[in-house]
Amino acid sequence: MSAHVVDVPCASKDYQVHVGRGLVDEVGPIVGSLLGTPECCIVSDDTVDALYGDRVQSSLAGAGIEAPRITFPAGERNKRLATLETILERIASHEMDRKGVVVAVGGGVTGDMGGLAAALYLRGCRLVQVPTSLLAMVDSSVGGKTAVDLAAGKNLCGAFLQPEVVIADVETLSTLPASQLTDGCGEVIKHGVLADEVLFERLAASPINSAGHDLDELADVVARNVEIKRDVVAADEREQGVRQMLNLGHTIGHAIEAASGFVLGHGASVAVGLCCIARASAAEGWCAADVPGRIEACVAAYGLPTDTDIDHDTLMGYLAHDKKRSAAGYSVVIPRRIGEVELRRVSPEAMRSLVDAGCGTSR
Ligand code: NAD
Ligand code: GLY
Repeated sequence: MSAHVVDVPCASKDYQVHVGRGLVDEVGPIVGSLLGTPECCIVSDDTVDALYGDRVQSSLAGAGIEAPRITFPAGERNKRLATLETILERIASHEMDRKGVVVAVGGGVTGDMGGLAAALYLRGCRLVQVPTSLLAMVDSSVGGKTAVDLAAGKNLCGAFLQPEVVIADVETLSTLPASQLTDGCGEVIKHGVLADEVLFERLAASPINSAGHDLDELADVVARNVEIKRDVVAADEREQGVRQMLNLGHTIGHAIEAASGFVLGHGASVAVGLCCIARASAAEGWCAADVPGRIEACVAAYGLPTDTDIDHDTLMGYLAHDKKRSAAGYSVVIPRRIGEVELRRVSPEAMRSLVDAGCGTSR
């Protein structure tokens, strides 16, 4: 059963996030007790479907819910309108009604695309998130952002839809490739820097890795991350203000991710972005002098990169297309100390100074 149940009170909907072991087999009982026996469709990529599709489907069947499985090829390159259309046509072919539920079982790509299908089908049906990657458990399954990518950029076509419930089974992380687990740790470290020095110290002292990490400890860490994201999302569901704090490490990180041709993972890019903005903030005198060194040491302990050798003109070229940029410049999240951040508006010229001070400057 769930070791942790985190309440998420949002303006549009209150829901719970269950975090624990063996929860893949509890999807049916949890959905059934919450929603009765609605029509459901399970959406997964082919990798996750092969690993967990049977168990989720059996669990739902045990609760009296017959749920067909809809799959798509794994990978970010498939998070696009053509795949979304196929998913929607498949849902329609099962004649799911307006009270129906999309059960998105997988990583962030599945959650984002299954979530957008739920937001669009019959002008909006319901969504259950069953995240199976670390990144999806601590970040993408909570907060209601759904999207697909366009040729012009990532996540440019989306909607907000909060799930009815999130069910995170940490045992699924045992099949996640080690590189994906490590990548997800970028967002986990970000949450520590953002809001919780105790979590940060725990992460630095005992890095999460695939070599037999204690699953109960991992469930604790996931649940604490969900609480941190919950606090921000509950205060600002539509990202009008404080939710922008979740972009810590993302402004420079996104530019590095795009400049790498998306070869560097999202979490790894956020980890580099965190180190760069910490070095730049220290150079500006905006944070305590020990902040960059502590963040770099933690990031390095996970085998994640702490710096980039991409030239600064190239980075500024990608930053010019940052979707969160406005005419006045950039909103940059500054780590004031470990566990506390501040949002600053900076001009394009000041952004260039931050890039010069923070990128390619590690010792
Ligand atoms: P992903 O969904 O592509 O999963 C990564 C890989 O791991 C895939 O190949 C998948 O098949 C595999 N996988 C997932 N769970 C597995 C398991 N338990 N065992 C074996 N293999 C497994 O990518 P991701 O890293 O989970 O998520 C990245 C996506 O999340 C990006 O598209 C990003 O834009 C999005 N995102 C969304 C939000 C949000 O708030 N909505 C936040 C952060 C990131
Ligand atoms: N991942 C950032 C957000 O949910 O706002």
